[in-house]
Amino acid sequence: MSGPRPCPVSVPDLIKMKERGERIAMLTAYDFPSARQIDAAGADLLLVGDSLGMVVLGYDSTLPVTMNEMIHHTKAVVRGTERGLVVGDMPYLSYHLGLRDAVRNAGRFIQEAGAKAVKVEGGRKRARIVRAIREAEIPVMGHVGLTPQSVHDLGGFKIQGRDAASALAILEDALALEDAGVFSVVLEGIPAQLAAAITRRLSVPTLGIGAGAGCDGQVLVAHDLLGLTAGRVPSFVRRYAEVGDAVRDACRRFVEDVRSGAFPGESEATHLKPEVWEELRPHLQADPKRLWRS
Ligand code: KIV
Repeated sequence: MSGPRPCPVSVPDLIKMKERGERIAMLTAYDFPSARQIDAAGADLLLVGDSLGMVVLGYDSTLPVTMNEMIHHTKAVVRGTERGLVVGDMPYLSYHLGLRDAVRNAGRFIQEAGAKAVKVEGGRKRARIVRAIREAEIPVMGHVGLTPQSVHDLGGFKIQGRDAASALAILEDALALEDAGVFSVVLEGIPAQLAAAITRRLSVPTLGIGAGAGCDGQVLVAHDLLGLTAGRVPSFVRRYAEVGDAVRDACRRFVEDVRSGAFPGESEATHLKPEVWEELRPHLQADPKRLWRS
């Protein structure tokens, strides 16, 4: 990348964006090369989501993801990011075992990995944890609605807030998080009218995923929009590219070229200068054992 260093996005910038009615774009990133591309594309936030467990590590849920895995990937994303605000997603059991543990793990994202903020899943029952992490001067993003770490409690990855009581509970969750000091809230897998109503009620930005167009911003898993996810993607995903097909095609052509001898070509190899080759050639033709002894 060339030109002047872009001005990094800060937490107050995001609040001002909501006030000005400017939409916020967040994408997941899990490694150095994807972070570079996503940052250069202008995403305001790069979320090192625990979705990396399913998307890049091949687990069947986010639950097995560990703090050490999250720190490893967050460091790579931070190295690849100049402008966007990097958020580290606190994995399952990293904030469930007490306030001290939660603050220490949140602090690892900031101190060891270089993230600027952390995300926790859950509403009212996480308010105490959010307050404790905020006490340590760490910006926190909330996440309500379909919270994948509660997959067993929810009975699967299902839209939440379909009836009045559960919709009101999600609104209460979002308000409790705002009161606890979050700087933004992810609204995942909830009806569009509910997401728009929550967005109007909150003074901090909402970032929707499967929550309609009435949020202050949107987030998608980058691999989903790039066509890199194995299997079916949720209906709220828009596929902007079929990178998976392009990758497979390129790799298939390499395999074919190796097998046919078409790769590497002359320009893809390094050659000795003629005088060096002349000096070397007699030694290469001699008994290799003698070459080492002399
Ligand atoms: O882990 C993740 O990628 C997320 C987003 C889908 C919001 O939490």
